[in-house]
Amino acid sequence: IPRAGVIGNPISHSLSPKLHTHWLRRYGLAGSYDAIQVTEDALEQTIRALPGQGYVGINVTIPHKIRVLDFVDQVSDRATLVGAANTLTFTDDGRVLADNTDGYGFIANLRQGAPDWNPQSGPAAIFGAGGAARAIIVALADAGVPEILLSNRTRPKAEALSDEFGTRVRVVDWVQAGTMLETATTVINTTSLGMAGAQPFKVPLDDLRSDAVVTDIVYNPLRTTLLDAAAAAGCVAVDGLGMLLHQGVPGFERWFGQRPEVDDATRAAVLA
Ligand code: ATR
Repeated sequence: IPRAGVIGNPISHSLSPKLHTHWLRRYGLAGSYDAIQVTEDALEQTIRALPGQGYVGINVTIPHKIRVLDFVDQVSDRATLVGAANTLTFTDDGRVLADNTDGYGFIANLRQGAPDWNPQSGPAAIFGAGGAARAIIVALADAGVPEILLSNRTRPKAEALSDEFGTRVRVVDWVQAGTMLETATTVINTTSLGMAGAQPFKVPLDDLRSDAVVTDIVYNPLRTTLLDAAAAAGCVAVDGLGMLLHQGVPGFERWFGQRPEVDDATRAAVLA
């Protein structure tokens, strides 16, 4: 029976075991998926031992997504570009291949939630310049967004991403972050603002365009302040849970041989 799992620290909060177990059951596949908690000093040794224990691959989550790139055998172009991996696949001869599907999950979620979304219709505005923003910047540039406006409380972090990803990324000061909305037709919050227990999202949203597609990587709560404001302004608002569900699709397909669907039943299984 093929085994897969998710490795991180802490790991109890991860929704991935519910997601993959739901898919295994749904498609009647023999397999298992579990949560593996490991500290950084034991990371490489633990991963190297997994193929011998029947594992065909794993997801990688916080805080290990960057570190795994140091010792895997092969890194996909996408994971190299993003600088982090979330999906490892083990070959029959025990080699470890690293990929990043976060950008895929982001785009697939937007396309499912906003079927008429046109990345070329205007600039994208991104709030936040942390790890999640990196994968999203790469994915949006790849999708053909003409310009990316990027604003972060700590401005140098946004400037570093702009330097790295090129002139298509323009930094806007955090105190003026709301002005990005004047032109943006794709709007994304990648900060932790608005998450249950965190500070509220307080960027002024008066300039939101009614033709913008708006999404939030925060999915607890599912309807954030940003998404509520977007809906009130007539925008298509797409919640962040789908990004997490869609990023799991390529791994599941590679490991278990069935491309899984993301639909209401998937969402219900993960939220249960
Ligand atoms: P992730 O990998 O999920 O992106 P992260 O790298 O810790 O997590 O990034 C968190 C993001 O939320 C950052 O953009 C952070 O801004 P800073 O770079 O200035 O820290 C943003 N963030 C967190 N708390 C914030 C707050 N109170 N106000 C504004 N931005 C905040």
